[in-house]
Amino acid sequence: MNEFKVLLLLICVISITVTQSQKPFYCQAPLPNPSENTNGLTLKMVQVVTRHGDRTPLYSTMNGLMDEWNCTLGSYMLPSQGNNGETLNNVDLLYRKVYLPGREYLPGNCSLGQLTALGYQQHINLGQAFRSLYVYKYALLSETLDESEIWVRSTDVPRTLQSAQGHLTGLYPPGTTGETGQNSVNIIDIFTMDSYFENMEPNNNLCPILVQYYYNNTDSQTYYQFNKENYNLKKEIEQALDINKAPDWSDLMDLFFATQCHGFDLPPGITESVVNATYQASLWENNYLLSPSIVNRLSMSTFFEEIINNIEEFISGNITTKYFIFSGHDDTVGPLMMLFGIDQYWPPYASHVEFELWEDDNSNKFIQLKYNGVSIEVSGCSSTMCPIDEFFETAYSILVPDYSDACQPTSSSNESGSVWP
Ligand SMILES: *[C@@H]1O[C@H](CO)[C@@H](O)[C@H](O)[C@H]1NC(C)=O
Ligand SMILES: *[C@@H]1O[C@H](CO)[C@@H](O)[C@H](O)[C@H]1NC(C)=O
Ligand SMILES: *[C@@H]1O[C@H](CO)[C@@H](O)[C@H](O)[C@H]1NC(C)=O
Ligand SMILES: *[C@@H]1O[C@H](CO)[C@@H](O)[C@H](O)[C@H]1NC(C)=O
Ligand SMILES: *[C@@H]1O[C@H](CO)[C@@H](O)[C@H](O)[C@H]1NC(C)=O
Ligand SMILES: *[C@@H]1O[C@H](CO)[C@@H](O)[C@H](O)[C@H]1NC(C)=O
Repeated sequence: MNEFKVLLLLICVISITVTQSQKPFYCQAPLPNPSENTNGLTLKMVQVVTRHGDRTPLYSTMNGLMDEWNCTLGSYMLPSQGNNGETLNNVDLLYRKVYLPGREYLPGNCSLGQLTALGYQQHINLGQAFRSLYVYKYALLSETLDESEIWVRSTDVPRTLQSAQGHLTGLYPPGTTGETGQNSVNIIDIFTMDSYFENMEPNNNLCPILVQYYYNNTDSQTYYQFNKENYNLKKEIEQALDINKAPDWSDLMDLFFATQCHGFDLPPGITESVVNATYQASLWENNYLLSPSIVNRLSMSTFFEEIINNIEEFISGNITTKYFIFSGHDDTVGPLMMLFGIDQYWPPYASHVEFELWEDDNSNKFIQLKYNGVSIEVSGCSSTMCPIDEFFETAYSILVPDYSDACQPTSSSNESGSVWP
C-alpha cells in the first residue's frame, strides 16, 4: 500500500469519527465501494471475509452501571433427524432460546457477545450493498439464488453464524431465494468447525510456537515500557469501574466502545480521553504482539492458503463457486489485513475484506483486494487491479512454506494454555 492509500484510509477513518461524532468509528465499518480500474474486465469470483456486526461487550464489570441492551434478535431452532431436510415439509413447531432476564452478566436478557438487532441489520445492509455490486453492477451472481454459486463458512459462534445469515438475507432478500424443490424452504449450508481447529483467527492449538512468541514478546524492554507508560491509565480505569484487576486493553476498549455504540452513558469516571487512550493502548498492544512478521504469518498462513487455493482451483476449473463468505471476528479481519501491512485502525463491526478475481478478453487474470470500501495496492503489485502473477508472488511470500515445522515449540515448557482469546 502506498502512502497515498494510507492517507486516504486515515482520512476515511478520521472523517467517520468526526461526522458521527457521538458514535465511535468502531460501531460500523464503511460499506463496499465499486472496484478500481475495471475497464474491459469481467468479474469471475469473489471471496468475502467479514467481522460480525454490533454485539454486546465480551467483558462486563457486572456492577450494573449500564442500561439494558437491546436483545430483540432471536433465533428459531429445529433439530433434524438424519439432517436431510425432510422435516421441513411439515414444520409445525419451532424452538427458541431465551435468556432469562436478570440471569446474565449484562443487565437485561442478553448474553455476553450476543449479536444485537442492529448488528444483524448491519450485515443485511452489507449483503444488500454486495447485491448491488455483485448481482447488478458486475453481473457475477444470479439475480435469484443459485446455491451452487455460493459457499459459506463461519466460526462456530452464534454472532458470526447470525451475521452470515444477515449477509445472505441482504444478498438474496425474500422473493429472490429461488425454487424450493421438494421442501417448503431452501437450505444453505454454513460450514464450521470446532474452535480447536479454527484457523480464521490466531490459534495456538494449531501452531503451538505462538505461545512462545507471545511470552518472548511480552518479556521485552519495549513491552515493559508500554506497561509503565499506561500504568496510571489502568489504575484510573480500575478505580472508576471499581474492579481489582482490569482485563486486557482490548476488552476495556470493547466495553467502552460497545457502550457508546448503544448510546449508553460511559461509566462515571470514564471520559472520552480515557476511551481514546484505551483504544490507543489496545491497538498498539495488539499490533505489537502480532507485528513480528513470522507471528502474523504463522497465525494466518493456513487460512490465507485456503483463499489462495480457492483462486487457483477456480482458475483451473476444479470449482465453480463464485462467492465465498467467511464470517469471523476482528482477529480474523485484523491479522489478515496485517499480512498486507494494514493495521492503522481496529476493524469496526461489520468490517469486510474482498478478494476479487477479474479477467480480461485475453483471459489474463487479476486480483483486487478491498478493505472496508478501499481498494488496496498490494505490495509487489503494479496497480490496485493486480496482475495475478504479481499477486501470487506476494501471496506465496506471505505463506509459511514449512508451516508444521515452524509451529513446533523450541522447548516443551509452554506448549499449552490459550494465549489468543
Ligand atoms: C429481551 O427483552 C426485550 C425487552 O424486554 C424483549 O423485547 C425481547 O423479546 C427479549 N428477548 C428475548 C429473546 O426474549
Ligand atoms: C431494538 O431493536 C429493534 C430492531 O432494530 C428496534 O425495532 C427496537 O425499537 C429496539 N428496542 C429498543 C428498546 O431500543
Ligand atoms: C524465546 O526466547 C528464548 C530465550 O531468549 C529463545 O531461546 C527462544 O528461541 C525464543 N522463542 C521464540 C519462539 O522466539
Ligand atoms: C486520541 O489519542 C491520540 C493519541 O494520543 C491523539 O493523537 C488524538 O488526537 C486523540 N483523539 C481524540 C479524538 O481525542
Ligand atoms: C484440480 O484437481 C486435480 C484433480 O483432483 C488436482 O490434481 C489439481 O491439483 C487441482 N488443481 C488445483 C489448482 O488445485
Ligand atoms: C512460560 O510461561 C510462563 C507463564 O505461564 C512464563 O512466565 C514463562 O516466562 C514462559 N517461559 C518461556 C520459556 O517462554
